[in-house]
Amino acid sequence: MDNMKMMKMPLPSSDRVTVAVRVRPFSQREKNSGSKCVISMHSRTTTTIQDPKNPEHVKTFTFDLAYWSHSGFQKDKDGVLISADPTSKFAGQRDVFHDIGRGILDSAWQGYNATLLAYGQTGSGKSYSMIGFGANKGIIPSVCEELFQAIENQGRNQEYQVTFSMLEIYNEQIRDLLSRTKKPGGLKVREDQQLGFYVEGLKTVPCENYAQIEKLMEQGTKIRTTASTNMNASSSRSHMVITVQLKQVFLDKALTKQSSIHLVDLAGSERQKSSGSEGDRLKEGSRVNLSLTSLGNVISALADAAMGKKVLHIPYRDSVLTKLLQSALGGNSRTTLIAAISPADICYEETLSTLRYAERAKKVRNNAVVNTWSRAENKTLLGCGNSGAAEQSACFLADHQMGTYAIQETWAHLLEQARREWEQQYAAIAQERQMVKTLPHLLNVNEDPQLTGVLKYFIHTGSCVAGRAASNAITLQGLGISDKHASFTNVDGKVTVTPHSKCKVIVNGVPITSRTKLQHLDRVILGSNSAYLYIGFPSERGNEDLNRFDYDFFQLERAAAEGVSMDKLGAGSSRDGQVDPSVLAVFQDYIKLMPLVAEANQMSEELKKELKMELKVKNLASSDSRGYELQKEVMVKVTNQRTHEVWIWSKSKFINRKFLMEELYQRFLDREDSHVAQEDDPFWDPVEVIHLGSAHVWLQSLAYCMKFEEQVEFLNCDGLEEAVLHVHIAPCSPTGQVYGEEDMIIDPFELLGKRMDFQIHIVQCLGVKWLKEDAKRGIQIGYRIYDLPNTLYTKPIWKIVNPQIEEIVQFAALNASQEFLNYLQTNALIVDLWGLQEGCAELSCSQLDFIVTGEGHIVVDTKKISNVKDTSQTPSNQTSELYLKVLKLEQETELLRNINRALREENVFLKESLEKIGSGQQAHKPSNTLKVTGMTSQLPSAREINQMCTQQDSCDKEFAKALKVFYQSMNTARGQFLRLRQYKPPEDDQMLRPFVHQQSQMLKDLGDLLESSMWKLKNDVALIVKKKREYLLYIKQ
Ligand SMILES: Nc1ncnc2c1ncn2[C@@H]1O[C@H](COP(=O)(O)OP(=O)(O)O)[C@@H](O)[C@H]1O
Ligand SMILES: [Mg+2]
Repeated sequence: MDNMKMMKMPLPSSDRVTVAVRVRPFSQREKNSGSKCVISMHSRTTTTIQDPKNPEHVKTFTFDLAYWSHSGFQKDKDGVLISADPTSKFAGQRDVFHDIGRGILDSAWQGYNATLLAYGQTGSGKSYSMIGFGANKGIIPSVCEELFQAIENQGRNQEYQVTFSMLEIYNEQIRDLLSRTKKPGGLKVREDQQLGFYVEGLKTVPCENYAQIEKLMEQGTKIRTTASTNMNASSSRSHMVITVQLKQVFLDKALTKQSSIHLVDLAGSERQKSSGSEGDRLKEGSRVNLSLTSLGNVISALADAAMGKKVLHIPYRDSVLTKLLQSALGGNSRTTLIAAISPADICYEETLSTLRYAERAKKVRNNAVVNTWSRAENKTLLGCGNSGAAEQSACFLADHQMGTYAIQETWAHLLEQARREWEQQYAAIAQERQMVKTLPHLLNVNEDPQLTGVLKYFIHTGSCVAGRAASNAITLQGLGISDKHASFTNVDGKVTVTPHSKCKVIVNGVPITSRTKLQHLDRVILGSNSAYLYIGFPSERGNEDLNRFDYDFFQLERAAAEGVSMDKLGAGSSRDGQVDPSVLAVFQDYIKLMPLVAEANQMSEELKKELKMELKVKNLASSDSRGYELQKEVMVKVTNQRTHEVWIWSKSKFINRKFLMEELYQRFLDREDSHVAQEDDPFWDPVEVIHLGSAHVWLQSLAYCMKFEEQVEFLNCDGLEEAVLHVHIAPCSPTGQVYGEEDMIIDPFELLGKRMDFQIHIVQCLGVKWLKEDAKRGIQIGYRIYDLPNTLYTKPIWKIVNPQIEEIVQFAALNASQEFLNYLQTNALIVDLWGLQEGCAELSCSQLDFIVTGEGHIVVDTKKISNVKDTSQTPSNQTSELYLKVLKLEQETELLRNINRALREENVFLKESLEKIGSGQQAHKPSNTLKVTGMTSQLPSAREINQMCTQQDSCDKEFAKALKVFYQSMNTARGQFLRLRQYKPPEDDQMLRPFVHQQSQMLKDLGDLLESSMWKLKNDVALIVKKKREYLLYIKQ
């Protein structure tokens, strides 16, 4: 076969890195959450991405190849995805292989090194393109298969040698995926003058056919899966490198060509949003992303160099990965990057970042040369790059010094060795295949679909123990798995599982403590998070789709059993049945973090750190000052069980800490020194002040100049009572005289433009749980009314469960604005309860930002003042006094203007009356006064007016009193109503769900109705009062 005639890649210069982008179909999770596709591909080379928040914002990228694998496909009888119709632009695995895979083979046959890198966030489809799933084989198996097919068809005078190696880089450590023995600390990268960087001691297996490669990959995946579950190392953070070496020896021409093919499935490119972990005392998990970050730096430096910029240094030496890929980037290799992207709107930011990365990679230039030599020339082998362990590739390296016969001898010897290993393994594999057919077993389920279903644990007839100990019939490791963790029995066609004392076993989401019968397809979680699907006896099995029981399924089921559901997070209150995207995001975060928290707790336990971590939803039950639900967000509450210290970690801080915990835990497992100084300990933080809960004190009464005393609950993020606050809020005179009942007003807008003083008296805090839990703790209370620039805190009180606080602060609105009066009527004062712990800094606020009256009261409603302030050039220390004077003057002017207006009106009216009386005619009422039915047109006498006024006064008092009672009870009702709305049944029952949903909708409607009726009532009362006053004024005159 003439290799040169193989399909040519439809690509430009082989010196430039070739870049392809591929978009996958929606995942089930994306479909469930109603995701929108933000990617389009209008030609074989263009990819367009639309910003979901700003749909006009569209970016177009041009790459060498763009693969549309998102839609337009169907499954054929073997399960292979193919185009649904001839017009479909769908690109399946064969299409990708056709361009990229054949291009690699083409290069290899010519003697070039070739590299293929798959880049993208976790779940974007890197492994799907590289390795594939089931019948949908990826590029790596297809390349290997075609390589051997071509070899079979070669002529006599050629000798072919193929070797295969497979490694994983995790946390900068190299693990040989073809070797069962794990080297502590991993394999080392060495540098050779001729070879460049290579991995010392890496197993490089000679192969004769594709079936062997298939088995090697299966074996490698198995080792990777075991390592991932044992060490609790997420495969999404590891890089997998497969290297296939092809050597062609042309016996008749005494010529040798050699090519190394590196196939790299990179770690997920996603990064934690920097905000949270930036705020962390400890830097990002030091080595977690080092290789990927370094790869980005190398690509950027090379791209800059290619653009003509002066680049002094390419940082290959910064990480293990970049050392191994030195020849692939900027060196002797033909390199292709496949950028895998998700179509979903929620992945927009990550996808955009992947496309930008790909754009940079496209600029990188390589310098590939054919690796060939003839014995006559005795030419040194060129550019082997990281061709694996020197000793194992001896025949590859030194054969230019050997005769043909010697080459064949050595190679034959190596093959023979490999064959012997094969035989043993074949037997084991064949036996396993047989047992799968006949025995009930556990099938592992990994977060990474590529590693799911790889490990099988058979339950033989009789009884057996599963756990860490090597003596067990089922040896399995993993976080939180004990030496003897659980017993399985297989008796009379029934399988049962029994946890050993205190060992965690969860079946179908529910923790079990006693013998439990297993049914085909039951979900079993052992320890903190090792998930298995139980496959029953052959008689129980049908044609089920096992893919349905993926990692998500396990976690959702577990969450549901723990009472976490979308409804609990507030999705039930959405109006149109559509799930609120922010609730959905919180729910997904919750599900994602739940197993991680379980793992972190396990590590804490084993490392004796005594921390207990709990997942919480911030603002789960909190509303803003108007009663609307606040934006929710997942957080982790951390408690030291010995010292009772508490911390609240943000999601990103937790994820960062978890990386660091894993590093520490790994050292512990490797029996290395796992001691760290306190300041470097991911399980430690300095003590901090903790937000315990909030109370809402509705301010409506204040708008009516009514004093009120309340006992309100501080609710924590779960909506449970943390303590009870006793507070008095009272209107008062500027000198602090509290107003009595008789000073109550009926229309809040009577206060418009007037000075309004009031006192907030934090009296007491009752039954503080925080203090009950630990007597050494303290509390502080903080609140911020209307437009105050800072929160005011009460003085700290320590070690008292029912602390008497007795702090009174007087506030003054010098010129009450409409907005302020509206605020009082519709908002609540949010009072926060803060928990102090021994050694933490107490809360205080800077009084400098407040404007203070002459009497020393804090001025609120300062918008007007601020306006004056903005235009004023007066130095700040004199300002407040000056503003107050200006305001006072303004107020007086306004008052004079009003008097003037009233006098003028009176004048006009008197004149008219005089004229009318003079001419003996009736006076007409001014047209804008209220017409009361039955009112005589005759003017009443002075005595009658007096009488009417007295009656009117007492009526008004009654009326005001009634209203006061009404408004006050409305306040209580409102508080109760809010609590009722947050009240959900403890069980998440499928049957109840529609009912609960409907009920919460009805509650919301009722709430809206009540609110609007209240508003209407208040406005109507105010209007009536106003008109009545005008009328009284009129008849008095
Ligand atoms: N082109 C594709 N066609 C169909 N399914 C795909 C495609 N790409 C990815 N998937 C599916 O998406 C999921 C995640 O893909 P995977 O390759 O494991 O992502 P990654 O390796 O980037 O984390 C898998 O279930 C896989 O089957
Ligand atoms: Mg993957």
